[in-house]
Amino acid sequence: MATRAYEALKKMKTEIFIHKESTNIISNYNKWAEEYEKDIDAIGYKIHDESAEVLMRHLKENNRDTNVLDLLSGTGLVGHYLRKRGYSGILHGIDGSTEMLKKAKDKDVYQELQKQQLEPGNIGILKDREGYYDAVTCVGGFLRGHLDPKMLPEMAKLLKDGGHLVYTARVSVDNEDYRLPLESEAKNLVKLKIIDNDEIVKTSYDVDWNVENYNDGEAENRDPSPVWIYCYRKI
Ligand SMILES: C[S@@+](CC[C@H](N)C(=O)[O-])C[C@H]1O[C@@H](n2cnc3c(N)ncnc32)[C@H](O)[C@@H]1O
Repeated sequence: MATRAYEALKKMKTEIFIHKESTNIISNYNKWAEEYEKDIDAIGYKIHDESAEVLMRHLKENNRDTNVLDLLSGTGLVGHYLRKRGYSGILHGIDGSTEMLKKAKDKDVYQELQKQQLEPGNIGILKDREGYYDAVTCVGGFLRGHLDPKMLPEMAKLLKDGGHLVYTARVSVDNEDYRLPLESEAKNLVKLKIIDNDEIVKTSYDVDWNVENYNDGEAENRDPSPVWIYCYRKI
């Protein structure tokens, strides 16, 4: 009998992550919003909590005047775990999907949630927020058809000096043509002395993304799926 994890992965592979273009991916998220958290839970992904832990560890101040931006906030899982880990400041979220944002609003942990499909040069209200944030986070946003790696310099501009960028990328053969340009953007910002690397947390989950490897819902020869959490500091 097919397991819940297998059903979730199969759905992601065959119904959600099938487009290269951002416009299409947003409509898929609108349809997925209701089941998103159940599916993420089924595959055992804990990246939201781990990323919240990294951000909280690096955040210089945590008081009512601290400002954190959760880019591609989705249903608000990162916001939920930041609050659970004691974040007491102001939390803003941005996402392109109305339905994902509705779920985030229900969590009542964000002071501001904005609908905006982000692309380099088209960042909506964020263009007025240079040097505003103590941290900008983006979990599960840097993958094909989602956020362009060229957004990294724009994200760095939003930070106060000493503020932190915390974002994730899956490390797998099928994602390297996306993760490597992201690494180049970061390296370039380091070379320009705009940001410096504080930490890269190399975590992994027992998820085999290749649905072809499953037999009767159970993965054979399941390999751990590495995800890296990058943490950079604005100089
Ligand atoms: C994998 S989910 C991650 C959500 C959340 N950060 C989490 O970890 O659960 C990706 C989210 O990015 C949003 N998204 C994808 N591309 C986008 C873009 N270019 N601009 C704004 N939102 C986008 C989708 O609507 C979706 O909510």
